[in-house]
Amino acid sequence: MIEIPEYIRKEIEKLVKELNYHNYRYYVLDSPVISDEEYDMMLRRLKELEEKWGYILPDSPTQRVGAAPSEKFEKAEHREPMLSLDNAFSIEELRDFDTRVKRLLGINDEIEYTVEPKYDGLAVELSYKDGLLYRASTRGDGYVGEDITQNIKTIKAIPLRIEGVEKIPEEIDIRGEVYLNIDEFERINKERIEKGEPVFANPRNAASGSVRQLDPSITASRRLFMSCYGMGYVKGAEFYSQIEFIEWLKEARFPVPAYIKLAKGIEQVIGAIKEIEQLRQGYPFETDGAVVKVNSFELQRKLGTKTREPRWAIAYKYPAHQGITKLKEILASVGRTGVITPVAILEPVKIGGVTVSRSTLHNWDEVERKDIRVGDYVIVERAGEVIPHIIGVVKDRRTGEEKKVKIPEHCPVCGSKTVREPGEVAVKCINFNCPAQVEERIKHFASRRAMNIEGLGDKTVELLHNIGIIKHFVDLYRLRQEDIKGLPGFAELSSRKLIEAIAKSKKTTLSRLLYALGISQVGEYASKLLAQHFRKLEDLYHIKAERLVQIPQIGEKTAKTIEQFFNNEENLRAIEELKKMGLKVENPEFEEEKKPSPLKGLTFVITGTLPKPREEVKEIIEKAGGKVSSSVSKNTDYLLVGEEPGSKLAKAKALGVKTLSYEEFLKMLE
Ligand code: IVH
Repeated sequence: MIEIPEYIRKEIEKLVKELNYHNYRYYVLDSPVISDEEYDMMLRRLKELEEKWGYILPDSPTQRVGAAPSEKFEKAEHREPMLSLDNAFSIEELRDFDTRVKRLLGINDEIEYTVEPKYDGLAVELSYKDGLLYRASTRGDGYVGEDITQNIKTIKAIPLRIEGVEKIPEEIDIRGEVYLNIDEFERINKERIEKGEPVFANPRNAASGSVRQLDPSITASRRLFMSCYGMGYVKGAEFYSQIEFIEWLKEARFPVPAYIKLAKGIEQVIGAIKEIEQLRQGYPFETDGAVVKVNSFELQRKLGTKTREPRWAIAYKYPAHQGITKLKEILASVGRTGVITPVAILEPVKIGGVTVSRSTLHNWDEVERKDIRVGDYVIVERAGEVIPHIIGVVKDRRTGEEKKVKIPEHCPVCGSKTVREPGEVAVKCINFNCPAQVEERIKHFASRRAMNIEGLGDKTVELLHNIGIIKHFVDLYRLRQEDIKGLPGFAELSSRKLIEAIAKSKKTTLSRLLYALGISQVGEYASKLLAQHFRKLEDLYHIKAERLVQIPQIGEKTAKTIEQFFNNEENLRAIEELKKMGLKVENPEFEEEKKPSPLKGLTFVITGTLPKPREEVKEIIEKAGGKVSSSVSKNTDYLLVGEEPGSKLAKAKALGVKTLSYEEFLKMLE
């Protein structure tokens, strides 16, 4: 093995610990204490050291990505079956559950229950041995699931190592739900619409589709979360109740349900369920119910399970929120990349306390498939109580006056002819200067995850674009306070703040800028990849697709759109303008191209005295990409033989390892 200096080993270990902690602050607590850029810098340093010294800890954040796509998922057996839940659709059924529990236990006193939101995703089991995550699996049929370890490791909220607690079981299987937040679900669907791919029906399908991917890099590109709520097999530690276990999970830095209440008796359970019903309106994820569990593990064991469900838990389902209303109009809305999507304008209707007056229809095929016509009475459902969906038409209420809508042949904004690529669902306006696209591009450019111009929201962009002071995102940097002061909503202070925020955004990172440019197919993930492979923006000017597809995760279609973008002089001029106006782009993500490495992948062992000190020779080998090991094995490629060789020579001969003189070695370097 290569001797790794103590101080380097320490630095690597410290970086892993710190990065994992910051990861936890960001993804689990949602309260980071360092900037993304600082995080990226630390990660980059860790990568450098790991590569140079070959010392990679199993819980290093670099081990979350980078696994190659596989052919199929291996089977994964659960040591304790993963059960499903019985449902209660009314408060009455909930009371029946409580009565049943008391009867089975022979207890008259109030039972202690926990109440948690029911996450709508897919159940996953995380298996830890000596605190390290070694396997993750889907539920499957409850007994045997699929091994999805590589995919699950890409979810940053999931600890690769159990830390922060004294009690670390020898082995433990932790269960929870992997899910997507609603905004991420919408982002994925938007991207799919733009790519002409079919949309996911709901966040649960999208989460499941994202996890059950043979290519982990696709999973990595979706912002998945997990909420841990249960325990399977455990060895070497004891837990006594659900509430205690969740507390332990929390301390051990696992993401846990957004709400958990210990309720004594069914009345308190009902209270908690009502509380969640209010709270869930504000949750970023979908919940269609609450899960009630007997708190004590001992009582859980006494109650036992039926074939598929435990007798100690039940899922209370909130009534589905539906309404019927008249569809007044189907608008065609033009997005940033020119994709035209149908939007349903509804007669306002109250569903579950919220007034719904519009709903997206995803694409024109869906309108046709569901045979939705203007003037129809439609059934609207707030799926997960957040996104309104049209689930169908009340055909009995048709009068014959309803009108079918046609797929727009012209862009509703600029009037140019629309196109639809064969085999794709997306209908597009291909006029790059279409005002609708321009406006959307500016909104995107300014948005939080792009240039992050604080205070420049969609409404302000619409205003500035409408009155004509901004025709391109470059114009943002030409704005002066006088231009905006006095506009609706802009007094002295707010106009100054906006100008300051615009100025502040000039200092940015390459990945943010690439994302902000709004290149078709290039989301945040692809932007990060590009930033890793290109030192500066100018390296992308006039780039060819052939060069881009060399980046493993970039497909041909994306490469083509990037080529088009950076071979369009107008785009390059816009970027040059941005630079002239003071844009400063840093790139903390760039990974230095490897220097020529003639010995790459080769392992050497040295024996005897060489013309140069051994340490020096070792350094030469390493600089040329090779490795030096201290003992000969079948993995050794060459034994470098000096004067008075030791026993290693005999061993090398016995194993058939090639030997080299120092002169031969020097030739090899050339
Ligand atoms: S407990 C034996 N807690 O709902 C107990 N499940 O419909 C099983 N789920 O298979 C799970 N949120 O995938 C539990 N807080 C929560 C949950 C939850 C969502 C899922 C889980 C389960 C399904 C049953």
